[in-house]
Amino acid sequence: MNILVSGGTGYIGSHTCVELLNAGHDVVIFDNLSNSSEDVLDKIEEICGKRPKFYKADMLCPDELESVFSENTIDAVIHFAGLKAVGESVAKPWEYYNNNVCGTLNLIHIMDKYGVKKLVFSSSATVYGDPAFVPITEECPLGITTNPYGETKKMLERILSDYQKAKADWHIVLLRYFNPIGAHESGLIGEKPNGIPNNLMPYIMQVAVGKLTQLRVFGDDYHTPDGTGVRDYIHVVDLAKGHVAVMKKFEDAPGVFIYNLGTGVGYSVLDIVHAFEKANQIDIPYVITERRPGDIDSCYSDPSKAEKELGWKAQFDLETMCRDSYRFAKKSL
Ligand code: NAD
Ligand code: UFG
Repeated sequence: MNILVSGGTGYIGSHTCVELLNAGHDVVIFDNLSNSSEDVLDKIEEICGKRPKFYKADMLCPDELESVFSENTIDAVIHFAGLKAVGESVAKPWEYYNNNVCGTLNLIHIMDKYGVKKLVFSSSATVYGDPAFVPITEECPLGITTNPYGETKKMLERILSDYQKAKADWHIVLLRYFNPIGAHESGLIGEKPNGIPNNLMPYIMQVAVGKLTQLRVFGDDYHTPDGTGVRDYIHVVDLAKGHVAVMKKFEDAPGVFIYNLGTGVGYSVLDIVHAFEKANQIDIPYVITERRPGDIDSCYSDPSKAEKELGWKAQFDLETMCRDSYRFAKKSL
């Protein structure tokens, strides 16, 4: 298939382009490079021996999207483009609602104009809020989001589901990612946030390479075995392969399909710290601090629906996730 990847130079997008190319698909990327760099295209080419076609285009600019669609015959779109920093979204709600919601509306409008009716959307476990139960199945009720970023995901799931009701020949797949970490085994692509990282693994990576002195563990009084927050960390390459598996789903009847992409295993913050230390033979100094507002005790998936319907299951263990994260950190941070 010829697949358009929005946000394809970003963290999850770049790993997905590698897996799509390795699986024999053709890939066209558009990205406005607001949180990534064009160098990623060289790295993708170095890994796969193939270079995706690239457009520097902003989904807020219909004219730029028009060029992408008029110059290519697209079979399906995987839509990663968006702003994703939770804290920043609280400070800049207008930018988040405008970029993520209006950008996606522009994208589906142009898809409709060019008769492209297959879409995968990057959603998040954040839509479950403080989940009604764990492990979380896709039937778990959606929860109350605690920030504009999370709300854009919830709104877009609703918008895309409503849209499909009106356009019955569309396939829309909503993928709810749990916590992607790790990097490609080459160490060439990975996650490189701007400024001080908000998320756990990017922070640990900076401590590991000496850019930050110690990790702050946000609270040790949660209702979890060691008191620190529990999450479902998934290797980004496994997550990327989940998108390749979805391409086969497009052969079935149209509709809206929802899948959790996680491992089904929850690890605490201290589990991650100790696993990283063991895998890489390095000390990660840390201090226990106050809870971070909005954080929850436990969030991990029941990923069995994706296994049953897509034939996809995460393969990489925590040790590999920690090793691959550190390899990328040493090369690029
Ligand atoms: P990322 O920031 O690395 O990638 C997103 C890409 O989108 C960037 O390259 C950025 O330049 C681009 N972009 C942003 N706004 C754009 C616009 N208006 N037009 C064109 N390009 C634009 O983020 P990521 O971690 O790869 O996440 C990809 C998607 O997955 C996002 O939608 C994110 O919300 C979602 N997601 C991520 C996580 C996570 O923990 N990383 C978890 C759940 C869901
Ligand atoms: N944590 C620390 N110290 C840090 C950073 C994080 O102790 O410096 C803890 C958090 O308190 C939490 C755990 O590490 O218990 C994971 O925190 P992250 O910020 O890495 O991830 P979250 O689960 O809070 O959220 C992430 C993304 C969301 C996405 C969600 C999906 O930021 O956008 O995963 O499950 F929706």
